[in-house]
Amino acid sequence: MKEWYDAIEEAQSVERLEEIRISVFGKKGILAEGFAKMKSASDEEKAQIAKSLNTHKNALTNELVLKKMRLQTLELEAAMKAEAIDVSLYSASSQAGALHPVMETMDRIVEYFTAMNFAVKTGNMVEDDFNNFEALNLPKHHPARDMQDTFYFKDEMLLRTHTSPVQIRTMMQNKPPIRMIAPGSVFRRDYDITHTPMFHQVEGLLVDKEGKVSFANLKFILEDFLKYMFGDVEVRFRPSFFPFTEPSAEVDISCVFCKGDGCRVCSKTGWLEVLGCGIVDQNVFEAVNYENVSGYAFGLGVERFTMLIHKIGDLRSLFEGDIKLLEQFQ
Ligand code: PHE
Repeated sequence: MKEWYDAIEEAQSVERLEEIRISVFGKKGILAEGFAKMKSASDEEKAQIAKSLNTHKNALTNELVLKKMRLQTLELEAAMKAEAIDVSLYSASSQAGALHPVMETMDRIVEYFTAMNFAVKTGNMVEDDFNNFEALNLPKHHPARDMQDTFYFKDEMLLRTHTSPVQIRTMMQNKPPIRMIAPGSVFRRDYDITHTPMFHQVEGLLVDKEGKVSFANLKFILEDFLKYMFGDVEVRFRPSFFPFTEPSAEVDISCVFCKGDGCRVCSKTGWLEVLGCGIVDQNVFEAVNYENVSGYAFGLGVERFTMLIHKIGDLRSLFEGDIKLLEQFQ
């Protein structure tokens, strides 16, 4: 019998253990054989043999159960080691995430101005009438408000139509000089191939002592900035109107599609409008109780920049969440 105890002891797998179990306990196993032989023995011997066989039967059962448990634990540990997933392992099939092209453009714009020492400010997306219009020299019932129709709440609260209210908030909270940009979402009641109800702007504001800030300063930084964004383009300032700047200008770059020859995108003019700017109107400074200061301000649409940089035809496609489209800009 000892050989079977040794066999159990030495068994290296659950399968081997099962073979042993069959050899010992099976129909033709050694215990069955033993009990069969017992029949031909004398009564005295029978009792002896039966007792011995039953003792071995119980002992071997115990050994088998214990050994099986031990082997199963070892096998489980080995399997766990072998099947462990290395989450840090590179997999060619996994998809790398990427910044949305609008955010990538925004980052590039912010990068330029922070390098030029402009602080990044954020305001409120839900604004009041004072910050969004009134303080920006856009009194109630002024026709210029029509250009920026938006979504209104009760009590003269609204979704901001531009990032310009951040100019007001920043000036109310800080003394001059000011050198800030304000990137963020803005909202208007528009929807066509170049407009979505939500879009992004970056505002810029620089304020210093009276007579210290000139249109030439504004022109220099915007030209430099637009060349940083679009490469070797021509930049043109065109007189325009904004209630919060005087004089005001709209800035064009030579068409990035036809290099100024005239095409469908630039309506055969050779120029593309990219931002609005001007010298801060003194009425704005009055609204925030600033005295003896001068400043310039500008505002641009980040989606428009993105469309021109990536040559995208329909602005709405940027917001459809179509991975096939977005993947092209990674
Ligand atoms: N707020 C203006 C707009 O959204 C842009 C602008 C900002 C123009 C600052 C001039 C100065 O149209």
